[in-house]
Amino acid sequence: MSTKTLVNINGKVVTPELATVSVFDRGFLYGDSVYEVTMTKNGIPFMMEAHLDRLESSASKIGLPLPFNRDEITNQVINTVKELGSTKCYVRIVCTRGEGEITLDPTADQVGNFILITKELPEYPRHWYEKGVWMVISDVVRNHQRSTDPSVKSGNYLNNVLAMGEAKRAGAFDAIMLNHQGMVSEGTTSNIWMVKDETFITPPLDAGLLGGITRQSLLDMGKNNGLKMLEENISPEQIKAADEVFLTSTTKEIVPIVKIDDQIIGNAQPGVNTRKLHVMYQELMENHYKSEKSRLNI
Ligand SMILES: Cc1ncc(COP(=O)(O)O)c(C=O)c1O
Repeated sequence: MSTKTLVNINGKVVTPELATVSVFDRGFLYGDSVYEVTMTKNGIPFMMEAHLDRLESSASKIGLPLPFNRDEITNQVINTVKELGSTKCYVRIVCTRGEGEITLDPTADQVGNFILITKELPEYPRHWYEKGVWMVISDVVRNHQRSTDPSVKSGNYLNNVLAMGEAKRAGAFDAIMLNHQGMVSEGTTSNIWMVKDETFITPPLDAGLLGGITRQSLLDMGKNNGLKMLEENISPEQIKAADEVFLTSTTKEIVPIVKIDDQIIGNAQPGVNTRKLHVMYQELMENHYKSEKSRLNI
């Protein structure tokens, strides 16, 4: 393992070599689990309340009981990253339906597993932000909402793994996935945005996507600052004709997209509106850490 990593399994913190769960765990067998990814800075978790809300929502949508309550999960995060001791940490919280007899039946007797993976959060390459990235539109259709609902952050990511594989084989950074109606849904681990005539547009939740916490923060922040923010369906043709395109996620923040398939976006450079939004968002992040530091008494 290249970076410093610690794993908390059901409250016990161990090194990666000792971090094991049963092969009978349903997370391993069926992807029957929910998860969240957040980060910490100087030991302070980022947007913990929003991540807990989404974890609870994902768990309740698939009827998976969470083994710990909100305060317990927050404390596990705070204590585990303290042991890791890095300034910036990646935090993955996984709750599985657990282990028992091999059966698809989710009501069978089983004991859930809680797994928290923390590692040093790497600095992402500067060129992603300074030069932008190239995305492909995937042939793999994003799961239908009445199938494995994309609004549930479950451990079943095969849909996204297949799209990412397609992007990598093409030499691209990542893939944009369309929904069953052929409209933009999201990236494989990010939400997608375009800017047209100074208006920021991202697909609505009912396009079938994960309600990203960064996505919601940007919608709120933009509206509070008088920017034009819209949730509207976007076709592949519209996104390719946009002035600017970018993706958002908790750890990557805002990454400009300068090419989609063989179409150059704007002037092939990260756009001014994208940069402006990122600067505002980084200020919001700093303010958030400050208020969380006093709220959580860290
Ligand atoms: C499928 C998918 N969409 C969107 C996102 C972005 O969500 P957030 O901004 O909460 O990190 C993620 C995050 O990993 C994701 O997996």
